[in-house]
Amino acid sequence: MKLRIARSRMGGKISHYDLYKIDVKKGMTILDALFQIQDKMDPSLSFRYSCRGAVCGSCSMLINKVPRLACRTQVKEVQKDGIDLKPFPALTNIPTGWNPEEEILIEPLPNMSIMKDLVVDMRKFYRALETMKLWVEPQEGETAQVQTPSDRRRIDRYVNCILCAICFGSCPVNAQEPEYIGPAALAKAWRFAEDNRVKNPERYIDAASVLNGVPLCDLVMNCVKVCPKGVAPGGAIRRIKNI
Ligand code: SF4
Ligand code: FES
Repeated sequence: MKLRIARSRMGGKISHYDLYKIDVKKGMTILDALFQIQDKMDPSLSFRYSCRGAVCGSCSMLINKVPRLACRTQVKEVQKDGIDLKPFPALTNIPTGWNPEEEILIEPLPNMSIMKDLVVDMRKFYRALETMKLWVEPQEGETAQVQTPSDRRRIDRYVNCILCAICFGSCPVNAQEPEYIGPAALAKAWRFAEDNRVKNPERYIDAASVLNGVPLCDLVMNCVKVCPKGVAPGGAIRRIKNI
């Protein structure tokens, strides 16, 4: 098996693709394959990772034109495992020479600027969480708040978000509107609005309903198809739209 990998200099755009032949082992993930390349063939290859177990959300990238976690994607499965996404240029521009029968195509996550090779600048993604203040601010003197198992079940799906930005990288609105807050932050706003311990849920709905938030979402649902944790951000956005 070969990997065709997008390469770029610091802060640049994709300049070319390099082709590497890998030695496929049982259970090998795309992240394992990238380590093999970095260890044995090309130490200059840059990519991001941490947990290696689909928990930290660091290893998001475009694999055969689908945004995925590299540590959760098996080399042997990736060619069988297509997902039908609403297209935008990063998903449809095919690099010259790619042979999908024999090669897996690896590119940086779309909709963010590239820092180097497969490492993208996540600041835009995180900034939305900060500007929307997506956390709980307890009042002074407030004691612990009770959450029953059924209260928790209402928000389970959204709490599972690992901030991998795969939804952000799959979204055609994010591709067109650089200021769009994106699916993950809007789903997180719904998560707090639905949390029984929160005293002012409307604050989160208001934060999500700004002009570059929920109103920009076209309910394309690419985010629902690609989210590795089943968060289904598009469903949360639809709920906010329906309020
Ligand atoms: S909603 Fe899903 S795809 Fe988006 S950041 Fe969270 S875990 Fe990743
Ligand atoms: S390395 Fe942590 S999610 Fe892949």
